[in-house]
This record gives sequence, structure tokens and C-alpha cells, in this order.
Amino acid sequence: MIWRGTGFGKLILFGEHAVVYGHKAIAASLPMSTSVTIRAIEGPTTTTAAHVDVRLMQLLTLALPQTGLQVEIEGNLPLGRGLGSSAALSVALLRAKSEMNNSPLSSEQLQSDALDLERIFHGNPSGIDNAVAAERGVFLYTKTGGSSRIEFPDTPIVILDSMEQGNTKSMVEGVAANIAVNRTHLTKLGEITESALEYIDNAIVLGELMNKAHAHLKEIGVSNARLDELVDFSIANGAVGAKLSGAGGGGVVVALTPCGGERLIAEASSRGIKHYTCTLSSRI
Ligand code: MEV
Repeated sequence: MIWRGTGFGKLILFGEHAVVYGHKAIAASLPMSTSVTIRAIEGPTTTTAAHVDVRLMQLLTLALPQTGLQVEIEGNLPLGRGLGSSAALSVALLRAKSEMNNSPLSSEQLQSDALDLERIFHGNPSGIDNAVAAERGVFLYTKTGGSSRIEFPDTPIVILDSMEQGNTKSMVEGVAANIAVNRTHLTKLGEITESALEYIDNAIVLGELMNKAHAHLKEIGVSNARLDELVDFSIANGAVGAKLSGAGGGGVVVALTPCGGERLIAEASSRGIKHYTCTLSSRI
């Protein structure tokens, strides 16, 4: 017997960190994904994955019986880059498990179970990562209201990889440790998301808002020299705006390239900067 589940990567366009404090965020799921395949075997449960670490083993221990299964984890999401690899894994695992147990999960149950698992990785997650990992689309998310689909015009983006791993838990804790100073910036980030919702069809304004969001993310201490460099590089090469995406401290920069981003892609390729391209769309 074989049971499978899939979860998608996510990209936060606006509102990371602010979402932890109740502000709105806009995020899209990505074509990159993680899948879990479970097979029935004799003996103790075994796992095969590109990276088997302590947290992954904790996750499996919580989610699955310790005997009788072979668990295979595959996918093309880079780890620790703010692209939601752990949430995609939690969602994929829960889906495979629900198939195995022949007990379909409602989307509310999937989100709440995935959030429990996500706490292993992130301490105090807002829930945005696992909400977006469950389905393809572009979403508005709040901690209390959950996710709802929003209309988003087809927009090409380039994701530039700093090749440095960020740690979401310590980034979120770092922001909390200095909340008296950071609160003003988190409020501004919330206002930027509200403006983005108003100008969702205007890539030029969205680009400017992304640049502003990056400046506030820098102020709360979640950017670093490489991420700032990649933002400047994106804008110098034709992006209408760019910002770090996700928890920061490493990870990726998202550049908005409504005209296709050929120059940015060519320059990134010639300098050996790892990048991914995709088109954000609510029509997926
Ligand atoms: C991480 O992808 C997004 C953060 O806002 C944390 C969270 O919302 O749980 C940094």
C-alpha cells in the first residue's frame, strides 16, 4: 500500500513579521513543493529525505506510528530560505497520513494540525506558512481571520537566493525582544500591506511598496548585507521593486518584474546568483 501527500512552498509579498502581531499579510503559494510518500513495511518506521535532521525526526515522531512505515520525503524547495519548506512538509505529511488512515481532513483541521507541527520549527508561528502551503493561489492572511483568496494579476517575479539559511524562530524572537522600538515599523508594515491591497493591479505602486517594506524590515533587524545587496541588484537590473521575503536573516529576495525580468535573470545568471522565476497569479 502507498499513500501520498503534497504541500506547496510559499512566498510572502507583504506583511511578514507584522502578521505575527495581527496585521494583514499577502502571500502566494509557489509551484515548488514537498511530497511525502508512505509505504507499509515490516519493522520500525524508516525515513528517507535529502536532509534528515532533529526537527524532522521530531515531526515524524509526533505525526506517525514508530513502526510499520517507510516514509519518503522529496521535493524541490530549498530549506531555510523563507519559502515555507517546513510548512509544505507538515501539510504533505498530514495529507499522506489522512490518506493512510482513510480519514479525509477538512481544510480547517489540516491547517490546525499543520500549525501544531509547525511549532516544532517556528515556536510562535502566525499560521501563514501552513495556510498557504495547502493550496495554490494568492492569499490575504490574518492570524485571527485565516486565509482568503484574493485577485492578483498575472505578474512575473524573480526570487533571488542568498544561499544563507535563516532561522524563523530566532528571527521572530529577535523582533519580539526589541518590540518597544520595532512596533512602529510593524505598524508601518501593516499599513503597507493595506496600501498594497488597494493598488493590487498597479505593479509600479506595488514595487514602490515592496521597497518601503524592505526598509522597515531592515529597521527591525531581519535583513542582512547579502539580502540588501540582492534588493539593490534587482532594482539596478530593472525590477520595479524588491524586498526580502519570509523571516529573513538569510533566505530570499523577491523582485517584481512585470515586464518579464529578462535583464535581471540574465545578470543573475552571469554572476552565478541562484534564482527561481515564476508568475504569481490568482487564476491557478
Ligand atoms: C515566516 O514565513 C513569516 C513570519 O511572519 C513568521 C510567521 O508569520 O509565523 C516571519
